[in-house]
Amino acid sequence: MAAKIQKIGVMTSGGDAPGMNAAIRAVVRACAYYDIQCIGFYRGYQGMIENDYIDLLPRTVKNIINKGGTILKSVRSDEFRTVEGRKKAYMNLKQNEIDAMVLIGGDGTFTGGVIFSEEFDVPVVGIPGTIDNDIIGTQATIGYDTALNTVVDAIDKIRDTASSHNRLFFIEVMGRDAGFIALNSGVGAGAEEILIPEENIGLEKLLESLKRSKRSGKSSSIVVVAEGDKTDENVFELAENVQKQMPEYNCRVTVLGHVQRGGSPSCFDRVLASRLGVKAVEFLLDGQRDIMVGFENSKITSTDLHNIKKGSHDINRELLRISDILSI
Ligand code: F6P
Repeated sequence: MAAKIQKIGVMTSGGDAPGMNAAIRAVVRACAYYDIQCIGFYRGYQGMIENDYIDLLPRTVKNIINKGGTILKSVRSDEFRTVEGRKKAYMNLKQNEIDAMVLIGGDGTFTGGVIFSEEFDVPVVGIPGTIDNDIIGTQATIGYDTALNTVVDAIDKIRDTASSHNRLFFIEVMGRDAGFIALNSGVGAGAEEILIPEENIGLEKLLESLKRSKRSGKSSSIVVVAEGDKTDENVFELAENVQKQMPEYNCRVTVLGHVQRGGSPSCFDRVLASRLGVKAVEFLLDGQRDIMVGFENSKITSTDLHNIKKGSHDINRELLRISDILSI
């Protein structure tokens, strides 16, 4: 019989994502609703190791649902990868009488959470918060939708200058080893070509496609490049090589970078974060543990944390085919 949960800790870890604050707010308010105490550890696992926390009450999380970033800060803690580090974290949980942890982050956070839970028998529930959307067990991670809209907005702006100067722009977007941001924002922004690590089309095919655009009368073009793409060493080398082989083009490169990680979360991300936050607390109170809450076919689901592996969430190849048709 699972021990009665009376106090829950929450933290954010890994790359921050718009909507993490909405998730924190939902966890805190769900705890209050079920008369459970809640504390927040700063800087993810490092704050658990250093016992750096704040008591979280419903009013503490007022006016944050619309804020990007995370009020609890975030780091990638190397010390937590050590048994000694995890032991310190466990001693602090015991000292603060914490019965379970809600972990908001990506696959790295969840990998650490499973090890910790097994070592010290502390129930954990993961909430997927990363702009990369590269986690199995959920169709969407918190922050992905907002990042997509940020990228589409930036590409729309770049298209204005690209068409004014008849230029070819290579726009690099985040996503680590996955192409979800590039593919969906590329289709959303009407890019001529989208390069992703899951489908390496190669330089020849890219040149063919750009020649086709030229023949169809296009004076400017946009190529969206996922940061994990392998067509060339990097986006700058890629643009240089295309420039050499197609001197008729005037190439420019834009790396969007950390702009994609910030900004006020979209309505979709706020609602997703709110639903996942409440459900994470309810699953813990139901005695469930070592799971990740997720979103599949509009329903909130749970996936055993042991099954959360990076990159096994397949890319939508239908979207790639459509992008080819639409760039005619
Ligand atoms: O995982 C989120 C992410 O933004 C990736 O898309 C990107 O590759 C990485 O984090 C950047 O990490 P950092 O903020 O440490 O530079």
